[in-house]
Formats: sequence, structure tokens, C-alpha cells
Amino acid sequence: MRLTVIGTGYVGLTMGVVAAYLGYDVVCVDKDLRKLQLLNEGRSPIREPGLDAMLSQVRGRMKFSADTPLAVRDADVVMIAVGTPSTANGKADTRYVEDAAREVAEGFAPDRTYVLVVKSTVPIGTYRRVAHVVSRVLEERGVQADIHVASNPEFLREGLALHDALYPERIVVGTESEAALRVMEEFYNPILLQSFAPPACVQPPRERKKPTFLVTDPTSAEMIKYASNAFLATKISFANEIAGLCERVGADVVQVTRGMGLDSRIGPSFLGAGLGWGGSCLPKDTAALIALAAEYGYEMPITEAARNVNAQQRRIAVEKLQEALKVLRGRTIGVLGLAFKPGTDDVRESAALEIIRLLVERGAHVKAHDPVAMDNARAALADLEVDFVNDPYELVRNCDGLVLATDWDLYRELDLAKMASLMRVPVLVDGRNLYNPEEASSAGFTYLCIGRPTVMPKLSVDPAQPGETRGR
Ligand SMILES: NC(=O)c1ccc[n+]([C@@H]2O[C@H](COP(=O)([O-])OP(=O)(O)OC[C@H]3O[C@@H](n4cnc5c(N)ncnc54)[C@H](O)[C@@H]3O)[C@@H](O)[C@H]2O)c1
Repeated sequence: MRLTVIGTGYVGLTMGVVAAYLGYDVVCVDKDLRKLQLLNEGRSPIREPGLDAMLSQVRGRMKFSADTPLAVRDADVVMIAVGTPSTANGKADTRYVEDAAREVAEGFAPDRTYVLVVKSTVPIGTYRRVAHVVSRVLEERGVQADIHVASNPEFLREGLALHDALYPERIVVGTESEAALRVMEEFYNPILLQSFAPPACVQPPRERKKPTFLVTDPTSAEMIKYASNAFLATKISFANEIAGLCERVGADVVQVTRGMGLDSRIGPSFLGAGLGWGGSCLPKDTAALIALAAEYGYEMPITEAARNVNAQQRRIAVEKLQEALKVLRGRTIGVLGLAFKPGTDDVRESAALEIIRLLVERGAHVKAHDPVAMDNARAALADLEVDFVNDPYELVRNCDGLVLATDWDLYRELDLAKMASLMRVPVLVDGRNLYNPEEASSAGFTYLCIGRPTVMPKLSVDPAQPGETRGR
């Protein structure tokens, strides 16, 4: 079976590489010539664990191209995996999907059968819209081809993209075409049966389970993706709402959410209180869901509240810092972590970036560090004066405050006493509740976290009045 994937982002490239690993011949298409050049040199344009290794393993079965019509001509399955960013009013911008559908249709050869798969996260009805765009182009070209459309939303997590593509919990296919369904089942067969040899470059799950193959109507498939992301976003925002109350009543949200998560009806994941969610999916997909509902005259107050709580979490981190330091103007603040979560170089909608903007607005000078996302952050913050520092200990030197924004494992291993001693004022806002409060305070930090009591250092400098020592 021959696969052509349109878009070599986190989803498209992952799908392409995994399909090649499963033995298919794959062509990956992109408009971005820089990405294509890197890929043709055997290098991945995105950072995902195992991706470089798997790319070099499957290179013989993969081609990269900027020419969509040529790339789809001999394909059996064509997947559209281009971006669907937010427009100003929150709606999903399906322009790239429609462009891709048009370009794909330009390449479909006469009298051939193709399965056209919409992998991008798209608003309800896009399945039908894609089918319409394709048939119009074919009509204009006077070409008769047998096109079967399927909606096949993707659920992979950045930082675990290969893992999730190889070992998914479910594969959802929404289609009205029996032929598309048969081809999709055949395409996913090695994953459905878990019959492939696990690649060495991807850590397999402790227990390999066969995923559920869920067949739905196309509209339900499109809705499953949005509903899943809105639910995950709401779960985190709920933990953050509880965190705010924990701070007021003196409870510890880490203990509270652990206690909640032990209930199998609730489950432990997505209950981490902190700076909230970011990335390329949850923010835009919750916005798109609300915008979609509005088109139907329907309100989604729970999803809206989840978004409001999330926006608030970022401001809370800056406010905590301001409360400790009293004045932010003229202060030097270090920010540890720029990626929206550990394991990825993606900084889209990252809490760190928004916090940096808020700090700069309040007159602070910001220094920042991330193990892999520094280049992307530098580009995203090009309009601000931010110092990017390669070493966490260098970062904190002479800082008046530190915000931990991304819970990279690397930051767990830092020598907190050394960090505190290098700072002018050792105040730490732990935006991910990464550290043990007692350890942070013993290291000399005024330790502010989310949903847990503030812990003062055993012997410290008053953060607002550096120079005055105070015992406890
Ligand atoms: N990133 C994730 O974790 C994730 C997970 C599940 C679903 N999704 C969804 O999958 C879709 C893709 O997301 P992504 O993060 O991979 O996007 P991305 O922005 O990383 O990549 C999209 C790629 O498509 C290319 N592109 C755009 N128009 C094109 C065209 N006409 N022809 C060829 N290439 C074109 C862009 O140059 C870019 O390289 C989105 O709808 C997203 O919501 C993303």
C-alpha cells in the first residue's frame, strides 16, 4: 500500500515515518522548503524522541516532495495532516485543509481509486467540504476517479508522538464508504493486531494492548476529537480551580489530586495543578468548539470556564512573584522551561511565553532557558528583549526571582542550594509543583507553588528587602 501524507508537522511526519516503519511506501509533502531540505538530509525538522533514529531506519521507503499532485498520483491512501490554527474569532481556520484538498485533487489520476483521509483536527462538516472540493476539481479537470473520504482524527501527544502512533488506545474512523473502511482497517492492521516488531528507538508500553478500532459516522468522528480535547483541558482546569481553594484553606493540591485520582472513575492523569495547558491543540480546539457551538446558537459554559481558569493560571504566577518581590520593574527574573510541556520543542501557546510577556510588560528583565525549545522561543519572542542562556546555573546568577514553567526532568536534578546561592533574591515560583517544598526551603528559597502553602526559607533574605536577614 502506498501512502502520501500532506503536511510534515508533528502529526504528518509521525504518521509518515510510522507507516514506512510498518512497510508502506510513503511520500511526505510539505510547502515548507526548509523542512523538506532537512528531511532530505535525513534530519527531522521537529524534536520528537526516537524520530531521528526511525527516520534513518526507514529512509529507503520514504520520499519528500513539495509537489502535491505528483506525490498523490500513485498513492492508494492520501492523508491530509496540515495545520488548522485559530482565526481571530476562535474558529478553526480550514483554509490549509481546503488548499490541500484542491492540490490533492489536481493529482488524482483518471480511473483510479483513492482513499482520502482527513487527519487534521477539523470542525464539523469538513469531511463533506473536502469531498465537495475534490469532486469539483475533478469535474473541472474532466477526470473520473473513485474517491472515498474518511475522517480519522489523531490523538498523539507531542513528546510521545511515535509511541502514541504505534501504541494507540483507539483508532477512530468516520466514513460513509465501505471501501474506505476496508482500506483503513488494512492500513492500520499491524497496529490493530500489534503484530509489528517494536522499534528499539521507542520505549514500548509496559503491556502491549490491541487498540479499539472505532467506526463512526464522519460527524461523530470529527466531534470525538474536539470533545476529547475539551474534556482533557477541563480536567486540568478543574484541578487548578481546586488548587486556588486549597491555597485559601491550607490544603495541598498535590495530595488532594492524588487522592482524587486513585478513584478509577476519575483517574490520575491530567490532574496536575500548575500553570495550565498550552500547545497547539487544547487552546485552539477549545476555542474552535465554543465557536462551532455559537454557530448553532449553543453555549458551552464548562469549556469556556476551563479556558478562563487557564488564562488566570499564567497571571497567578506573575502575581505571586510580584507579591514576594513587591516591585517587578527593574528586577531580573529567570524562567526555567519554554516548551509548552516537557519532551517537545513546541512553544505554541506555551505558558512560559505568556509569563515572559507579562513580566516584560511589568518592566522586568527576563533571562530564559530550555533544553530543546530555545530556538523556537527565540523566534516567537523576537519582538522582546529576552536573554537566552544555555545553562540553568548561569540563568539564575544575579536573578531576583525564578519561575519554573516547564517540568523537564533535567530541572528535577538541579542542585537547589547552588541555584539559590547564585541568585540575588532566592524566590522560586514553581509553576509545575515540581519540587518538594521542604527541600526547596532548606535550599534557601522562598518557595511559592500552585495550590500548596508558601514555604519560607529556613534562614533567608526578605525578598522585598534584600540585605535584611530574617530567621524563622
Ligand atoms: N501537534 C499535535 O500534537 C496534534 C495532535 C493531534 C492532532 N493534531 C492536529 O493535526 C493537524 C496538524 O497538526 P501539526 O501539529 O502536525 O501541525 P504543524 O503546524 O506542525 O504542521 C503542519 C504542516 O503542514 C504544512 N502545510 C500546510 N499547508 C500545506 C499544503 N497545502 N501542502 C503541504 N503542506 C502544507 C505546513 O508547512 C506544516 O509543516 C492539526 O489540525 C492539529 O490540530 C495535532
